[in-house]
Parts: sequence; C-alpha cells; structure tokens
Amino acid sequence: MYNPLFLTATLLATSVVAKQCTNITVPVSISARNGVFNIPTLRGNADATTFAQNLTSIRGNFTEEALLGYATVTGVYDISAKFCKPETENGTNPTVQLLTHGLGFDKTYWDLPYNNFNYSYIDVAVDQYGFCTLSIDRLGEGNSSKADPLDVLQVPAEMSALYELTIMLRNGTLPSVPQAFNKVVHVGHSFGSTLSVALAIMHPTASDGLILTGYSQNGSYLPTTVASWDSKLARLNQPLRFGNISYSAVSEALSTLMPSASNLTELANALSRFNITVGEVQEILQTTDIGDLFAGIEPSKLPKAADLPPGYLTWTDAGSNQFAFLLPEFFDPSILLSAEYSKFPYTLGELLTIGSGPYVAPNFRGPVQIVTGRQDAVYCGGDCLATGDPALASIPAKSKMAFPAASAFEAYIQPNTAHGINLHYNSTGAYNVIQRFLKAQGLASS
Ligand SMILES: *[C@@H]1O[C@H](CO)[C@@H](O)[C@H](O)[C@H]1NC(C)=O
Ligand SMILES: *[C@@H]1O[C@H](CO)[C@@H](O)[C@H](O)[C@H]1NC(C)=O
Ligand SMILES: *[C@@H]1O[C@H](CO)[C@@H](O)[C@H](O)[C@H]1NC(C)=O
Ligand SMILES: *[C@@H]1O[C@H](CO)[C@@H](O)[C@H](O)[C@H]1NC(C)=O
Ligand SMILES: *[C@@H]1O[C@H](CO)[C@@H](O)[C@H](O)[C@H]1NC(C)=O
Ligand SMILES: *[C@@H]1O[C@H](CO)[C@@H](O)[C@H](O)[C@H]1NC(C)=O
Ligand SMILES: *[C@@H]1O[C@H](CO)[C@@H](O)[C@H](O)[C@H]1NC(C)=O
Ligand SMILES: *[C@@H]1O[C@H](CO)[C@@H](O)[C@H](O)[C@H]1NC(C)=O
Ligand SMILES: *[C@@H]1O[C@H](CO)[C@@H](O)[C@H](O)[C@H]1NC(C)=O
Ligand SMILES: *[C@@H]1O[C@H](CO)[C@@H](O)[C@H](O)[C@H]1NC(C)=O
Ligand SMILES: *[C@@H]1O[C@H](CO)[C@@H](O)[C@H](O)[C@H]1NC(C)=O
Ligand SMILES: *[C@@H]1O[C@H](CO)[C@@H](O)[C@H](O)[C@H]1NC(C)=O
Repeated sequence: MYNPLFLTATLLATSVVAKQCTNITVPVSISARNGVFNIPTLRGNADATTFAQNLTSIRGNFTEEALLGYATVTGVYDISAKFCKPETENGTNPTVQLLTHGLGFDKTYWDLPYNNFNYSYIDVAVDQYGFCTLSIDRLGEGNSSKADPLDVLQVPAEMSALYELTIMLRNGTLPSVPQAFNKVVHVGHSFGSTLSVALAIMHPTASDGLILTGYSQNGSYLPTTVASWDSKLARLNQPLRFGNISYSAVSEALSTLMPSASNLTELANALSRFNITVGEVQEILQTTDIGDLFAGIEPSKLPKAADLPPGYLTWTDAGSNQFAFLLPEFFDPSILLSAEYSKFPYTLGELLTIGSGPYVAPNFRGPVQIVTGRQDAVYCGGDCLATGDPALASIPAKSKMAFPAASAFEAYIQPNTAHGINLHYNSTGAYNVIQRFLKAQGLASS
C-alpha cells in the first residue's frame, strides 16, 4: 500500500549530505629505533600493579631505570583504517586529516556510533567543512595487527607507521584511495597527539598542520593518571574481548551464567543478604570490573577474543575511565558505559615511552593548535588555567616554545570538558573550533 509518510522520510534522508567512507587495510613497513627495556613478563594482575608502582615511584624516571639500550625494530604490519570524503567533492586540491586516537580507544573515537553518531568528529569535518579524513587503528590496536607490547608498541614504532601512511596519502599509493594529497593535517587525541608531535620532530615536512587534542607537554599528572587506572591485564579484565576463550566455552558460560546474571530481580534476591538494593546491584554490575567481565557479550554475535599477551593492559573499570576522561554533569552517563565496554588496551611500551622526549620541533613550519578540555586531569591536573603564572594563560600554552618556527600557534581551552573531549555533550563545539582554525590557516579543501 502507498505510504506517503514513508516517501517523505526517504526524500529527507537522501537530501541530507552524507560522507562516503571506505574501510581499508594497509600493509605498512615500519623501521624505528625503539628502547630495549628490562621488564619481566607479567604473570598476572599483581605484576601490572607492580609495574604501575614502578612507573609512579618517587624514585624517579622508571623509563631510564629500565632502559637497557636501543634496537632497530622493523616489520610489515597491517593498519586498519577508514577513509571518508564528502559526498560531492568539487575541488581539485582536497585536504585530508589523518586522525590518530589515544590510549584506550580505536578509530571509532572519531566517529562514535553512540546516539546515532551525534558525537561524530568525522561528520563535522567531512559533511560540514568538506575535509577528507583517514582515521586509523594505531599499530597494535583495534583491527590493526597486534605486535609485541613491550618491544614493538612504543612511540617510535607507532610514529613510523603514521609516517608511512602519511607518505602513501601524499603520493597516492594508499590502497583504494587513488588520490595524491598535497595537504595532510595530523589530528591526534592524547597519545595520538604525542605521535603527531614525534612525527613533526622527526619528519618536519611530512605534516601541513598539527591539531593536538587532549594534550599538553606537562607530564606532572601522568603518575596520578596511571595510579587511578589500577591497571589489569587486558586479557583478564575483559576476557571475552581480549582473552583466549573459544566459541564453545563462551556459549556454555552464557547458557549457565546469563539467566541469573541478566535477571536483576533474581540477582537482587540472591544478594539481599548483603542488604543492597536492585539499583545498587545494577550499579555494581555496570560500573565495576564485573561489568568489564561481561563486556563483549552479544549472544547473537560472539566476539572473537583477541588472545592478547600480558603486556597489554587496561584500566580496571568505569570509575577509572571517568576519572581520566570525563567531567561529571557534562557527559551522558550511558556514554561512559558504552566507552568502557568498547575500550581498547594500552601497552607497557606505550607507558614507558609516552613521556620520553624530545619535546621541541624546531623545524616544523605549519600551524599548530592545541585543543584541551579545561578540566583535563591527564595533562592539566584538572584545571588547564591554574598555571600560577599570570604571564602563562594556560598549561598547554607553554608549548608555544616547542614550535618556534610554526606559522601559527594557538592553545584553545574547551570549557566544561575533561580529557575525553569527544565524549562530552559539547564535543561539536570543539570540532567547530578546530575546522575553523584549519580554514583560517589556509588548510581547507580547495
Ligand atoms: C566499515 O566498517 C564498519 C565497522 O565495522 C562498518 O560498520 C561499516 O559498515 C563498514 N563500511 C563499509 C563501507 O563497509
Ligand atoms: C619493578 O621494579 C623493580 C625494581 O627496579 C624491578 O626489579 C621489577 O622487575 C620491576 N617490575 C615490573 C613489573 O616493572
Ligand atoms: C545532538 O547534539 C546536539 C548538540 O550538539 C543536540 O542539540 C541534540 O539534541 C543531540 N541529539 C541527540 C539525538 O542527542
Ligand atoms: C560542492 O558544491 C555544492 C554546490 O555548490 C555545495 O553545496 C557543496 O557544499 C560543495 N562541497 C564541498 C565539499 O565543498
Ligand atoms: C573490526 O573487525 C571486526 C571483524 O571483522 C568487525 O566486526 C568490526 O566491526 C571491525 N571494527 C572496526 C572498527 O573496523
Ligand atoms: C612515495 O613516497 C616515497 C617517499 O617519498 C617514495 O620513496 C616513493 O617512491 C613514492 N612512491 C610513489 C609510487 O610515488
Ligand atoms: C589459547 O587457546 C588455544 C586453544 O585452546 C591454545 O592453543 C593457546 O595456547 C592459548 N593461548 C594462550 C596464550 O593461552
Ligand atoms: C526474573 O526472575 C524472577 C524470579 O525468579 C521471575 O519471576 C521473573 O519472571 C524473571 N524475569 C525475567 C525477565 O526472566
Ligand atoms: C539495611 O540497611 C538499612 C540502612 O542501613 C537498615 O535500616 C536496615 O535495617 C538493613 N536491613 C537489613 C536486613 O539488614
Ligand atoms: C626519562 O628517561 C628517558 C630515557 O632516558 C628520557 O627519554 C626521558 O626524557 C626521561 N623523562 C624525564 C621526565 O626526564
Ligand atoms: C605543570 O604545570 C604545573 C601547573 O602550572 C606546574 O606547577 C608544573 O611545574 C608543571 N610541570 C611541568 C613538568 O612542566
Ligand atoms: C561549546 O563549545 C564552544 C567552543 O568551545 C563554546 O564556544 C561554547 O561556549 C560551548 N558551550 C557550552 C555550553 O559550554
């Protein structure tokens, strides 16, 4: 039967601008001078805690203490990426933004499916401002190749992969993207910003502009962050996603565990002896590592457990996630749970090298914009404006000295936002600030 309502909806849907995206897998050949560290194989969660104690000890620089020397790491690894371009590309000289996520995420950080993609950075950059984007799963994360979490997954090796991808974009050799880009901008979040800066130091002409989100060069608050994470082995924290569980084992576990675990009334009855309410049981299930234990369960679509080695770690639960990434009252509580259940690990090598210099990019000549949430705990200790120095507007503003040859430098402090910028209600406010900066610097698609 003819349905006018349906027709209207279809017309509306097709008139909306929509990005065109392609999923690609890119083999990259890396070569990097990595650190060689004296860290024992972690036998369980207690060793993850020992590592965190070492890293945060007042003894001093544990990276230095554990460093035995340097070694060149080479290899060919697959990088999983998503390339997006505007539905109608009019120009001949488009700009591509290479998007690198931080610790604890994969490339979906830039295109969160949450709430019908209402938080999507890519939608704003591509549909509203006409940029192209390449969002990548960093080496070792998401659908990219796994690698040794201590010897390989460090800043230099991951930067090497970023450099190779940049070169492919520039000379048009990226698989399924037959276009040579003259303008490549590097947009990072947190550890992804660290990699972009490392790129600008090692290969100053590889990038036309740096957008460093969730970033400063003040490492004073990294120990607090690491402590708050209460790190666990990823394979023990979310065994269904990161452990080594077979399909039949999961099916069996689901059939015996799920009826009682999913029926809160039954569970609350069982736990009533502890004098806790149904609401409290629900809170425990969702926000503690019990919630993580069940993350990945979709009875119709069981995950393929990644069998990650013990050097892949993750923060323990939603509370740790919130402490590092989110400002209360300014995020949707359900997005926290969604981020927690779909989180990705970080590695020993990343934690050992995240704070390692150099920090100055003397030969980088493009524009630099830092966009950090005012209440960022990781890089501002909870208040980017608390510099204690009237001459210094914000903690991230100090990085102006790190880019002495930059054509422009701006440190933008995003209000009512913590470290995980893209997860806050006003994330699109920050996205617009970034796109406008790039346009003002002559880096729009043309
Ligand atoms: C690309 O991968 C994402 C995530 O798996 C999926 O949702 C999407 O449909 C894929 N897109 C295409 C064009 O295959
Ligand atoms: C922690 O540091 C101690 C002292 O340097 C060292 O013996 C131990 O191997 C380290 N363990 C981990 C897991 O980092
Ligand atoms: C999407 O976000 C905008 C603000 O960025 C808000 O006005 C709107 O209500 C949101 N829509 C949904 C469905 O959450
Ligand atoms: C291409 O041109 C059309 C018509 O002028 C315009 O609506 C659209 O925004 C342009 N697209 C881009 C990416 O600039
Ligand atoms: C990663 O690959 C899996 C299995 O092919 C797929 O289900 C998932 O959607 C992919 N995720 C992304 C972000 O590409
Ligand atoms: C791509 O760029 C690299 C580095 O500049 C160069 O070595 C390589 O030959 C180029 N490949 C093509 C096909 O242009
Ligand atoms: C993972 O499971 C497979 C099959 O049971 C087994 O062969 C393998 O040794 C396991 N790996 C680890 C690290 O336990
Ligand atoms: C949950 O368990 C209670 C008590 O056993 C039962 O009455 C109720 O029907 C169950 N609910 C569901 C949704 O299975
Ligand atoms: C449960 O705790 C409340 C508040 O502390 C108390 O009033 C009540 O007596 C307790 N119930 C049981 C069964 O212990
Ligand atoms: C710690 O030591 C490493 C390795 O020597 C060095 O690269 C890094 O800059 C040091 N960190 C600090 C904060 O001094
Ligand atoms: C970090 O910022 C705080 C507050 O401005 C300052 O006291 C501290 O010295 C800074 N630390 C570093 C390593 O720059
Ligand atoms: C949202 O972000 C924009 C850009 O930083 C800012 O101008 C605006 O005041 C913010 N809105 C709120 C409600 O914080």
